[in-house]
Amino acid sequence: MQETKWTKRRRVRGYMKEVERRNRLQMRAYVIRKRNERGQDHDFLSTMKNPDNVVEFDNLKTYFFTDSGTVKAVDGVTFSVPRGKTVGVVGESGCGKSVTSLSLMRLLQEPAGQIVEGEIRYNNGTRTVDIARTPEDQMQTIRGNEIAMIFQEPMTSLNPVFTIGYQVDEAIALHNPDMDKAAVRIRSVEMLKMVGIARPEGIYRAYPHELSGGMRQRVMIAMALACDPKLIVADEPTTALDVTVQAQILDLMRHLKNQISASIMLITHDLGVVAEMADEVVVMYAGRIVEKGTAVDIFHNPLHPYTVGLLRSKPSVNRLTERLYSIPGQVPNPIDMPDYCYFKPRCERSIAKCDGEYPPMIRVSETHEVACWLHEKEGTPHA
Ligand SMILES: Nc1ncnc2c1ncn2[C@@H]1O[C@H](COP(=O)(O)OP(=O)(O)OP(=O)(O)O)[C@@H](O)[C@H]1O
Ligand code: SF4
Ligand SMILES: [Mg+2]
Repeated sequence: MQETKWTKRRRVRGYMKEVERRNRLQMRAYVIRKRNERGQDHDFLSTMKNPDNVVEFDNLKTYFFTDSGTVKAVDGVTFSVPRGKTVGVVGESGCGKSVTSLSLMRLLQEPAGQIVEGEIRYNNGTRTVDIARTPEDQMQTIRGNEIAMIFQEPMTSLNPVFTIGYQVDEAIALHNPDMDKAAVRIRSVEMLKMVGIARPEGIYRAYPHELSGGMRQRVMIAMALACDPKLIVADEPTTALDVTVQAQILDLMRHLKNQISASIMLITHDLGVVAEMADEVVVMYAGRIVEKGTAVDIFHNPLHPYTVGLLRSKPSVNRLTERLYSIPGQVPNPIDMPDYCYFKPRCERSIAKCDGEYPPMIRVSETHEVACWLHEKEGTPHA
């Protein structure tokens, strides 16, 4: 029977009411949880599965409770960042890359955005905490002191009314409360020099709008390094820059990473950047990981049709094509996702089994995993 205007209106109203009811319950549970957060060590201390890792995401689920429904931005993500290594997180716009990093920094817009399940284990060399359960006062020490973040657009992260020197000084003084003003200033100029700024004393006195995009990003990197971080989270650090400056910034990050022996979680939609920088790669689609492995696994033996599509859409000077390939369709909005493989509507290789349940992660080698029914017989499924 065809739906009339009135029955449709009633159905939509019913849906909205149900969403409202669910959101209200969720907010109430959030308030109770926060009230009971006592901040005792045993509440949030944890143990790493592998002591060689700095961070372990374990079945992380981060949802946004919106008026149009629950957005499952990150839905069961499991991967780790080994000590001293660079892990690239790739995927098209809206795949959940930034929400994964914001969950790690606990910078979500709470209470609308919440970590609803899973652990983010982080080890600072002396102890392991589960970031998902760590109280805010402890998070403030971890954020900036141990984990630094570099964002895409440095102009939005720098304050336009203060000089560069004032802002770098502030970051250094915050992490070194015992340093006097003169020592902080010397350290700031040193940091600006370290990130390759040619005239550090002059730039120290300049305002952000007087700098080029590349220089501003170098300043952001200097501020991020002011605390000697164990882990640097870089969310599209070179997307706003032209290719030559991009190459310089990537070079700088690689060099500094070795100098301070930190790990990097590099978020980007640019596979070229990942190929240059990453030791390991995680491919995300609609809030889930569809493939992960070493850079060699992903670039020389991509298995998931989505990864293959991403690689085909990367321009190459060695390949002659009339038109650059683009994956048909778009990343779905992660509200009310289907039970089957989320990539199916865009997949050119789907088989009968793809109409069934969502494929599990299948381990095809010691380092390489893929969530696709095409590879079911090549490996062993696991959670
Ligand atoms: N504050 C929010 N409220 C509701 N939904 C959100 C919010 N922030 C993110 N989302 C949704 O979560 C999903 C993942 O977003 P995310 O920002 O992580 O994507 P991304 O992979 O970083 O994309 P991009 O490459 O464009 O930065 C998207 O569908 C987005 O609409
Ligand atoms: S599981 Fe099926 S639909 Fe999904 S990516 Fe693999 S082949 Fe395509
Ligand atoms: Mg993003």
